[in-house]
Amino acid sequence: MAEKSGGVHFDVVTIFPDVLDQLGNIGVVGKARQTGLIKLRVHDLRDFCGDTHRTVDDAPYGGGPGMVLKAEPFLRVLHHISESQGVPDSVVLLSPQGKTLTHNIAERFAEFRHIVLFCGRYEGVDERVSGVVTEEVSIGDYVLSGGELPAAVVLDAVARQIPGVVGDRESVTADSFVRPMLDFPHYTRPSAVNGLSVPDVLLSGNHEDVRLWRKRQAVKRTLLRRPDLLVDAELDPEEEQILGELAPGKFGSGAKK
Ligand code: ADE
Repeated sequence: MAEKSGGVHFDVVTIFPDVLDQLGNIGVVGKARQTGLIKLRVHDLRDFCGDTHRTVDDAPYGGGPGMVLKAEPFLRVLHHISESQGVPDSVVLLSPQGKTLTHNIAERFAEFRHIVLFCGRYEGVDERVSGVVTEEVSIGDYVLSGGELPAAVVLDAVARQIPGVVGDRESVTADSFVRPMLDFPHYTRPSAVNGLSVPDVLLSGNHEDVRLWRKRQAVKRTLLRRPDLLVDAELDPEEEQILGELAPGKFGSGAKK
């Protein structure tokens, strides 16, 4: 892997470059680009087809519905990227067959210096592209029409993990999934909306009470919505105690069976 000197350089390969150009200009990714912490180069796969019709796809060998993205344009664009930018640390194919994107993957990608993202399309990508792909990533168990939105999701998730991109570091380290615990509920002004008021403790000014209330709410939510996260979770003593009260004997130290 190349020496890491701050920031991540992405090369995205797609047949819809406009989509990535647009998405790459907004939100956290747009900001990270402005500050130089992310470099984003978008490549049109059609520029690497080698024929005047700019054909990116063809019918599948063996028959069947749909079209398959051809291998050579991907191989050519990777050659071009490697020649002009150096060999990337990782070549990622976005596909529903990949491993599901998690916080840990985003954190690992943020450590890379240079990542190529291949956006798949149609019925799939010629299997011979897999020879140059270092990993396949999915954003969930559903099929989208292509890898452009997943690539934008990866860009956003990785950008958040690059130090300096999100101004308030605490808001990143407190995010759900940094630890296997969902976030606590948030409220802002006004204190009453349609007869619904903010929990008194948040207006109390007592920081310790607020901290404990938030912790309890996070454990409660995780227990209700994502109990799977708690099975192997390393909880701190306060969380252990809260969980013991909410679900006696079910989780926590000595009860993880
Ligand atoms: N391409 C199509 N569906 C996808 C998914 N769920 N994740 C990543 N890439 C995809």
